[in-house]
Amino acid sequence: MYRTHTCGELRLSDSGKTVTLAGWVQRTRDLGGMTFVDLRDRFGITQLTFNADSDATLRETARSLGREFVVQVTGKVVERQSKNANMPTGEVEIIATELKVLNSAKTPPFTIEEETDGGEELRAKYRYLDLRRANVRRNFELRHRMAIEARNYLSAQHFLEVETPVLIKSTPEGARDFVVPSRMNQGEFYALPQSPQTFKQLLMVAGFDRYFQLVKCFRDEDLRADRQPEFTQIDCEMAFVEQDDILNTFEGLAKHLFKAILGLEFNEPFLRMPFDEAMKSYGCDKPDLRFGMQFHELNDLAQGRGFKVFDDADLVVGINAEGCANWSRKQTDALIDFVKRPQIGATGIVFVKWTEEGLKSTVDKFYSPEQLASWAARFNMKQGDLICIMAGKADKARKQLNELRLHLGDLLGLRDAKVFKPLWVLDFPLLEQDEETGRWHAMHHPFTAPKPEDAQKLMRGEDLGSVRANAYDLVINGTEIGGGSIRIHDRAMQEAMFRVLGFTDEEARYKFGFLLDAFEFGAPPHGGAAFGFDRWVALFGHRTDIREFIAFPKNNAGRDVMIDAPSRIDGIQLKELGIAVKS
Ligand code: AMO
Repeated sequence: MYRTHTCGELRLSDSGKTVTLAGWVQRTRDLGGMTFVDLRDRFGITQLTFNADSDATLRETARSLGREFVVQVTGKVVERQSKNANMPTGEVEIIATELKVLNSAKTPPFTIEEETDGGEELRAKYRYLDLRRANVRRNFELRHRMAIEARNYLSAQHFLEVETPVLIKSTPEGARDFVVPSRMNQGEFYALPQSPQTFKQLLMVAGFDRYFQLVKCFRDEDLRADRQPEFTQIDCEMAFVEQDDILNTFEGLAKHLFKAILGLEFNEPFLRMPFDEAMKSYGCDKPDLRFGMQFHELNDLAQGRGFKVFDDADLVVGINAEGCANWSRKQTDALIDFVKRPQIGATGIVFVKWTEEGLKSTVDKFYSPEQLASWAARFNMKQGDLICIMAGKADKARKQLNELRLHLGDLLGLRDAKVFKPLWVLDFPLLEQDEETGRWHAMHHPFTAPKPEDAQKLMRGEDLGSVRANAYDLVINGTEIGGGSIRIHDRAMQEAMFRVLGFTDEEARYKFGFLLDAFEFGAPPHGGAAFGFDRWVALFGHRTDIREFIAFPKNNAGRDVMIDAPSRIDGIQLKELGIAVKS
């Protein structure tokens, strides 16, 4: 037996026991004839002591241990003289009688401590060492507990976990596919699933009634803190359901996770907000409701007074930054610089502040004090507040003001990671039109059903912009945690959808014939949702970068710098696959 106990286990009540531990050397200290070694494993750290009574060679070996050496030690548990209240094992130490080096270690390229000196690149290259750090490891303990709790909840609700294939045909979710060449079918490619969407629908046709899977999905898209090329979903589907059944079931999942993982009770139903309201009041479809600062529109009060920027705008819209009237010129200029950054692309902000001297704006030339007072009333402005107004094309102005709102939320400390505001966003448009090409795209994916009252518009291909979808997103603190919809389960409607998206009937048959066929063999009404598991874990871990919760993530260029992937493959392999690489 390598060990009798782990390094996190021994307490005062174990005093007197002879134990054997195995682990990594965190550090050694030589103090006046005594040598102390902190021995670490996944479960904790235990202090080993070698004193004057210890065998001389034993002490010599202890002194020679380097950081991260792997050792096995046997000794007696005794009460410690100087106790360490910060460690669960801090009341005891092991007076070592045997010590065996199981493996030596090179000096690690960064310190394996919670506060490390290693930069991001270096830690990514030696990710297995980074994962030894207790705070990093705790992220995976959280992930594990969340996976278990999600499975428990769904299983208790009669969901069946079924694995679906990874080598498939494209399932469009709005990103590019990763493709895998087939040796046995030269010139042909599998696609890795962007999600198991079509398979879970087929499982409903199969009569499985309720399916779920913790499943890897693959999307070739630009990466961000909350996006990885391969990520995990809690993917779910249910038969014989309407939107409310789905929302209630998954609200139950969310509430279960909040309670089981964070000890938080949500007794009220989650807020439900139509997409149109989210866009109008927050300028985005995933509003962060930890703070207010709703949008108010000013077209009627601000246009037609000679201020060209507002007069020419499609929309004049603003927010009230409460308590910011005393911000300095430097601070408000910094806000302007923020919105002028190329990623946001605004031209400026009009400010109105209410100080002891009354209302003052950067456009006083154009507006009378009474007019400014009417704006103030619309914003429920009080003395001490600052309104920030932007103008332009409606979509753009809303997007830009959304960025400003979030930025102000950060600056004012209104986005506390320990506060959670969940929300369902409902009634998304089914389709969106590409401004340049005029082509229609599915806002969610092509399998989403229109609202029954809008179905005829889809079937006839008329007034497509006004067709709403039976689709919903779960948003928590401004992050899209999940999304889903009621699905089309009728062949004719699915064909109409493909036509609207610009597929010829032949293309639709080539790509999705299997699904269209299945709809003719008794497809039940069905719907479902999928939740971004990595995002959800990161949210519960109070962090924003999902890579911290993925054991071996890719960097922002889509590379795994530890294994150095992607990489070239040799000529023989290429030949077998019937592939020639151009450069
Ligand atoms: P959707 O595309 O909205 O829906 O994906 C569901 C959830 O997955 C997460 N997610 C990601 N997480 C990390 N990295 C990524 N690149 C990434 N892309 C998406 C998000 C998102 O809300 N098949 C449908 C679901 C359905 O209709 O049932 C789907 O995949 O949290």
